[in-house]
Amino acid sequence: MIQKDFLPNQYTDLPEEGKVTWKAPSNIALVKYWGKRKNQIPANPSISFTLDACATTTKVIYSKKKDVSQFSFDLLLDGKPKEDFKPKIEVFFERILDYLPFLKSYHFKIETSNSFPHSSGIASSASGMAALSLCLMDIERQLDAGMDQDLFNRKASFLARLGSGSACRSIEGGIIQWGGHSGVSGSSDLFGIQYPYEVNAVFKNFHDTILLVHKGEKQVSSTVGHDLMHNHPYAENRFKQAYANLDKLKTVFSEGNLEGFIEIVESEALTLHAMMMTSMPYFILMKPETLEIINKIWSFRKETKVPICFTLDAGANVHVLYPESVKEKAIQFIQNELVAHCENGHYICDRIGSGAKKL
Ligand code: DP6
Repeated sequence: MIQKDFLPNQYTDLPEEGKVTWKAPSNIALVKYWGKRKNQIPANPSISFTLDACATTTKVIYSKKKDVSQFSFDLLLDGKPKEDFKPKIEVFFERILDYLPFLKSYHFKIETSNSFPHSSGIASSASGMAALSLCLMDIERQLDAGMDQDLFNRKASFLARLGSGSACRSIEGGIIQWGGHSGVSGSSDLFGIQYPYEVNAVFKNFHDTILLVHKGEKQVSSTVGHDLMHNHPYAENRFKQAYANLDKLKTVFSEGNLEGFIEIVESEALTLHAMMMTSMPYFILMKPETLEIINKIWSFRKETKVPICFTLDAGANVHVLYPESVKEKAIQFIQNELVAHCENGHYICDRIGSGAKKL
């Protein structure tokens, strides 16, 4: 599919009003998206587990308006107006207007809430942009009854990507790849797809316990970090490495090779942070506690042979990944040794989920 496939047919009757609610999950990347080109095109493909517990629920109430010259919307987070989110939504609407021309015909009341606490250091942009895109797609589906589920999901992912890159991996469940790769059939820079190859059962019930090391605002946003990959001395090799890691993951997934998985996932996390430390200006998002946790995971794995590993997103929090078969041992280890490094002892138990749901 190419960009113009997402332009809609001519609408005839716009409904006067309505409302729609979607819940979309967050996701955790295994191979990381870090660096992008114009129009939210990723510099390299990425792959993620769709999560379950960490999610955003968004209700969109829409009513037709007379003045179609500009956007009109109210935004509420947990029932309270959230003015500082509005510019981001305005930019998002501007970017997607060609694909959803009804946007200026309605006033929208957008009510959103996250399952995870605000200042948890967990980004809500992936789940938030995915939930909003799904609500808008649902409105479009009412205008185009012939739309099939595949197109619905792809366009929702395509729109979400224009809001925040990683959001395009928060529509469907399981393992999602975003970014064209000649070795992965159907993959595209424009939207995420469910991983199309064999995946051993060991990777189907993975857990992700998120250790909340630092709940404050990050000093450097992802958007700024992506930008610093332009003219970065190691960028080209890093992008090549991501392609190569996706190649390697193919056999790792099909063979259920946990050792191979751990090697790729931990290397990806550390490379992401290495890119931050070697950009100009340089920055560090990990905290001392992040490193304490990583070292404890390495020691525990060496001593016990339990296949537990970590990944990081663009922050200090640590995602601890492990298969269902070692759940008890992993949780005990986390509680006994790692929780002490979390801010106020806070952590979130999450796992692979089945994708966004209409409520
Ligand atoms: C480190 O998707 O938040 O989590 O497209 O600018 O909104 P924007 O960036 P965003 O970047 C996510 C970066 C990451 C890696 C990943 O999720 O692949």
